[in-house]
Amino acid sequence: MKQVTVGVVGVGVVGIEILNILRERNFPSKNIRVFARSERDIEIDGRLYTVEAIDKASFAGIDIALFAGTEGEAGASTLYASKFIEEGAVVIDNGSDFRMKDGVPLIVPQVNRERIANHKGLIANPNCTTIQMVVALGGIQKKFGLEQIILTSFQATSGAGRSAVSALWDESKAIVNSNDKAGNYADINKILPKTSGVFSHQIAFNAIPQIGSFQEGNYTSEEWKVIKETHKIFADSSIKVSATCVRIPVFTAHSEAIYFTVKEKATFNQIADVLAASEGVIYSAKPEDYPLALEVEGKDEVFIGRLRRDPFQENGFWMWCVADNLRKGAALNAVEIAECLLKD
Ligand SMILES: NC(=O)c1ccc[n+]([C@@H]2O[C@H](COP(=O)([O-])OP(=O)(O)OC[C@H]3O[C@@H](n4cnc5c(N)ncnc54)[C@H](OP(=O)(O)O)[C@@H]3O)[C@@H](O)[C@H]2O)c1
Repeated sequence: MKQVTVGVVGVGVVGIEILNILRERNFPSKNIRVFARSERDIEIDGRLYTVEAIDKASFAGIDIALFAGTEGEAGASTLYASKFIEEGAVVIDNGSDFRMKDGVPLIVPQVNRERIANHKGLIANPNCTTIQMVVALGGIQKKFGLEQIILTSFQATSGAGRSAVSALWDESKAIVNSNDKAGNYADINKILPKTSGVFSHQIAFNAIPQIGSFQEGNYTSEEWKVIKETHKIFADSSIKVSATCVRIPVFTAHSEAIYFTVKEKATFNQIADVLAASEGVIYSAKPEDYPLALEVEGKDEVFIGRLRRDPFQENGFWMWCVADNLRKGAALNAVEIAECLLKD
């Protein structure tokens, strides 16, 4: 495989994981350049990286740029992706700014890697919640066709970046320390202000059924991402997708209860066989061997357990699906796309 120069933009929770994964997988890089808003040196796992201030940098000579900056108008990809592309790089973007744009392939290699070749300089990584769900359902969609998907997600705080991880940690410590002093349970609502400023409510010891802003039909932006991105990835907007996305006080790994119905008749064993054979999936057949967020953190695969048939709907099934949101949900998926680019 040819050796390339890689750019990594952003060194938050996803950017750091990208740097770890490039190293773990011996990605064929002759040089890795790292960019963020401010210049500094950072150490990750004993290795020192020099971070360049992006507004002063030149992007010449970068072959592949993995973007993990924040989203929106002041975000890295809105401001800088086109500049990298003009200098000859292919940009793989973790954010949502370009995912739904025509001409931008939205890629999960286990599901639709053949569409990478259609890129015009920019390839988008889907949302973390969508990625693990389509990896879980990709084989079933191919074999039986999906008619409906109803998702309830239980999402880790790291999905909202490093400040959200700190919010969970700081709020939890404040509550536990306060309880120590009191020697009994305290009324946690009296200990902290209602919001840490990162989430709309206290996240410690809580569950918040809002991720993103409220949009059409009272669905949140996160729920609409799941709906629209699933349609784009499966190239089938007839699938009836709906979702409830909930933030929970877990640091890393999203858990999902996925209900789906298939178009063609399928037995429980047929669905189980497809899951067991699906690329990137680890399926546990024993009901008591369900995957847990704590055990899945740091792993690459999408873990599935608790497959059940709907007792009232012949073609309906439930499964429990857990994956590391920073790895398969973001950094790993982006690096896998880069590996596909080098193979083609
Ligand atoms: N966290 C997840 O599970 C997850 C999953 C899927 C997708 N994503 C997406 O991945 C991206 C990164 O998320 P994250 O959770 O890693 O965020 P984060 O922890 O908040 O880190 C953001 C990083 O982006 C840099 N940055 C922000 N604006 C920039 C700009 N204009 N130019 C250059 N760098 C800029 C910051 O630079 P400084 O360090 O200098 O401040 C920081 O290093 C986001 O688009 C997010 O939506 C995240």
